[in-house]
Amino acid sequence: MIKTTFFIMKDFKAVFDRDPAARSILGWLEVLLTYSGFHAIVSHRICHVLFKMKIPLVPRILSQITRFITGVEIHPGATIGEGFFIDHGMGVVIGETTEIGNNVTLYQGVTLGGTGKETGKRHPTLQDNVVVGAGAKILGNITIGKNVKVGAGSVVVRSIPDGCTVVGVPGMIVRQEGKLPSEINLDHGDLPNPIRQRLILLQKEIECLSDHIKCDKDSCEVHKMVEKITKNDKQ
Ligand SMILES: CC(C)(COP(=O)(O)OP(=O)(O)OC[C@H]1O[C@@H](n2cnc3c(N)ncnc32)[C@H](O)[C@@H]1OP(=O)(O)O)[C@@H](O)C(=O)NCCC(=O)NCCS
Repeated sequence: MIKTTFFIMKDFKAVFDRDPAARSILGWLEVLLTYSGFHAIVSHRICHVLFKMKIPLVPRILSQITRFITGVEIHPGATIGEGFFIDHGMGVVIGETTEIGNNVTLYQGVTLGGTGKETGKRHPTLQDNVVVGAGAKILGNITIGKNVKVGAGSVVVRSIPDGCTVVGVPGMIVRQEGKLPSEINLDHGDLPNPIRQRLILLQKEIECLSDHIKCDKDSCEVHKMVEKITKNDKQ
């Protein structure tokens, strides 16, 4: 109970830390009365306690009532750390075996779901300080590392290491600790767009093929890179 209250206080504080709109004089009242993301997490904290006490049905019913009111569906089994903030709320879905670290932020329309083919732990794990942009989908039993930013509208189906920015469908890493990811840096300086990067690789491969007498596949950097990325794509 004390732990739940502590978590709710941290969730309340998180709204002020992360939403500039909540800093008016009566901001605290505004948050209490009108922030559906905050209402959803408070309800979840209670549902989760009931779920862990193995009380049947009641947590699910409460979470469905909360969904009806807030537009946020969090399965009572989901484990969520302190300082959790859902901005705007509507359309967020969080699956049963999801694990969320501390100080995570989700925007509206985010799904933390399964792929439909897994059993057991089938939803993602989000580590501390992850931010997930509006409408992004993170699917399957994958791990999103600390301080990762997931761009709005992305669909992420593979684990992402700490400190990355991932965007697009399927989600591709476009920054690692604020820099271009080293494994796809072709010294083209200004090429963070993953589709453009793939096109450059293809162009390079064609150049190698057309010059195939000089190109030794075993020593050719481009061939090695293409092989590495194709292998990653298949995993
Ligand atoms: C991903 C995000 C967090 C920015 O992270 P960042 O580490 O600062 O990354 P940058 O802004 O440097 O962008 C890196 C590259 O990804 C691209 N990018 C950023 N967000 C993207 C997105 N959602 N989809 C596709 N590409 C995106 C940028 O254009 C940039 O490419 P460029 O270098 O070719 O211009 C931000 O763009 C985002 O999507 N935030 C979500 C915000 C949101 O949902 N708001 C809702 C408010 S209601």
